[in-house]
Amino acid sequence: MKSLRIGFIGSGFIAQFLAKAMKQVRHCELTAIYRRSNAETLAAYARTNGLGDPKIYSSIKELSNNVDAIAILSPNFTRLQIMQEIADAVEEGANITGVICEKPLARTITDSKRMVELARGANLKTAYFENMIFMNTINNSLEQLRPQQKAMGELVIARSTEEHAGPHSSWFWDPIRQGGGAMSDMGCHSVAICRHMLTPAGKPPSFLEPVSMQCSMSLLKWGQPKYRKQLFEKYGVDYSKTPAEDFATGIISFRNPETGQIVQGQFTDSWMFDKQGLRLSMDGLGPGYAMEVNTLLSPSEIFIGDEAAEKVADSEAALEKSTSTRGLLAIQPNEADLYGYVGEIRNAVDSFLDNKDGFLTWEYGLEITRLVQAAYLSHEEQRTIDLTAPDIQKKLDTFQSKISKGEGNEVL
Ligand SMILES: NC(=O)c1ccc[n+]([C@@H]2O[C@H](COP(=O)([O-])OP(=O)(O)OC[C@H]3O[C@@H](n4cnc5c(N)ncnc54)[C@H](O)[C@@H]3O)[C@@H](O)[C@H]2O)c1
Repeated sequence: MKSLRIGFIGSGFIAQFLAKAMKQVRHCELTAIYRRSNAETLAAYARTNGLGDPKIYSSIKELSNNVDAIAILSPNFTRLQIMQEIADAVEEGANITGVICEKPLARTITDSKRMVELARGANLKTAYFENMIFMNTINNSLEQLRPQQKAMGELVIARSTEEHAGPHSSWFWDPIRQGGGAMSDMGCHSVAICRHMLTPAGKPPSFLEPVSMQCSMSLLKWGQPKYRKQLFEKYGVDYSKTPAEDFATGIISFRNPETGQIVQGQFTDSWMFDKQGLRLSMDGLGPGYAMEVNTLLSPSEIFIGDEAAEKVADSEAALEKSTSTRGLLAIQPNEADLYGYVGEIRNAVDSFLDNKDGFLTWEYGLEITRLVQAAYLSHEEQRTIDLTAPDIQKKLDTFQSKISKGEGNEVL
C-alpha cells in the first residue's frame, strides 16, 4: 500500500510529539522538514525510529514539491504566510493532496477564513488537528455509554479543563503573536471536546448548534510583580504592558437541531496549575449515568527522594509540562496516544490516502475560532453572547480581542 509522504513545517514541541505518535501509525513517513530550529534533531529522530529519511528544505516551495501532505506545526502568528506560500507552490505545480493545521487554525476569524479560502482555492484536502477528539479514554467511555444514552437520553453537561503551569516558548506568552492567553491557547481544546462529548452518536462534529457563550478571564498568577519579573527575565514578555489571561472559565450552550434540547459545556483553562504537570480532565453527566477522565491518573507512578532528585536531568521525560523532579510522580506509558495525537494522525493519513478530508476539516477549525473569539467578546462586554443573533455574528466576523491587540490592561 502507498505511504503518505508528509512534510513538517515547524520542528518544535508539537512536531516532536507528533513524530512520536507517527511511530504508531502505518502508511506514512516523515519525508521533509522545513529548515528552522531543531529540524536536524527531528530528522535524526525520524531516521532512528524508522519514520523515514527526511530532507531539510529551506523553502516551502521546495518542500511542497517533494511531499503528498504538509503539516503546519509552527507558531500561530506564522500560519497565513505559510499557507499562502503552500497555495503559491500548488499554483506553480506542486502535487499535494492535503494540508494539516495544528490548533488554533488562526488567531482571528478573519485569518481563519483566509486559511480555509487558501486551502480550498488550491484544491487541497484539509485536516484540523484537535487531538482531544481522538482521545481513546473519551471515545471508549462514550462508546460504553451509548446504550444507556439510548435508554435514558443524551449527556446534558460536559466539563473540560486543560491546565498546566505555563507554556514553553516565549511566543505563547505574547498575546499579540499567540492571539491571546490561556483561552486562545487551550480554550480551543476545551470548547471542542465539550461539544464532541455532547454530540449524539453518529452525528457529525458540527451537529450541535452553538447558542450562547459566557466567559470570564483573569490574570491571577503571572500578573503579580514577582511572577511578571520571572516571565520578563525568562521570555522577554512584559505583562505590565501587554498582559494575557492566565485563567479563563465559562459556559457554552448548544442546541440539538433535531430535538431542540439545550446542553451545556463548562470549560476552565489555565496557565497557573502548579501540580505535577499537564492535566486534562473531563466529565460528562447524563440522566442516570456519568463519565470522567483525568490524565494525571496513571497505572504507574515513581518516587524520587531529595537526594536522588539531583540525578534527574529531564523532568519532562514522562509527563508533558512536568513541574517537579522529585516526590511521587505520575508516569504515562504512552502520552502521544493518551492525548489523541496518534488518532488524529492516523485519521489524516487514512483520509488523505483516500483523497478525502480529515474527520475535522479546516471549516470545523474556523467554527472553533469563532467560539473562542466569542469567549473573548463575552469577557470584554461582561455579558452572555447570543451566538444566534445576526448582529453578533457580524461583529465576530471582524472581531479582534483587546488582549490580542496588546490592550489587555483594559480588561484584565
Ligand atoms: N495540540 C496540542 O496539544 C498542541 C500542543 C502544543 C502546541 N500546539 C500548537 O502547535 C503549534 C506549534 O507549537 P509548539 O509548541 O511546537 O511551538 P514551539 O515554539 O515549540 O516550536 C515552533 C516551531 O516552529 C518554528 N518556526 C518559528 N517561526 C517559524 C516560521 N515563521 N516558519 C516556519 N517555522 C517557524 C520554530 O523554529 C520551531 O521549530 C502552535 O500552533 C500550537 O498552538 C498544539
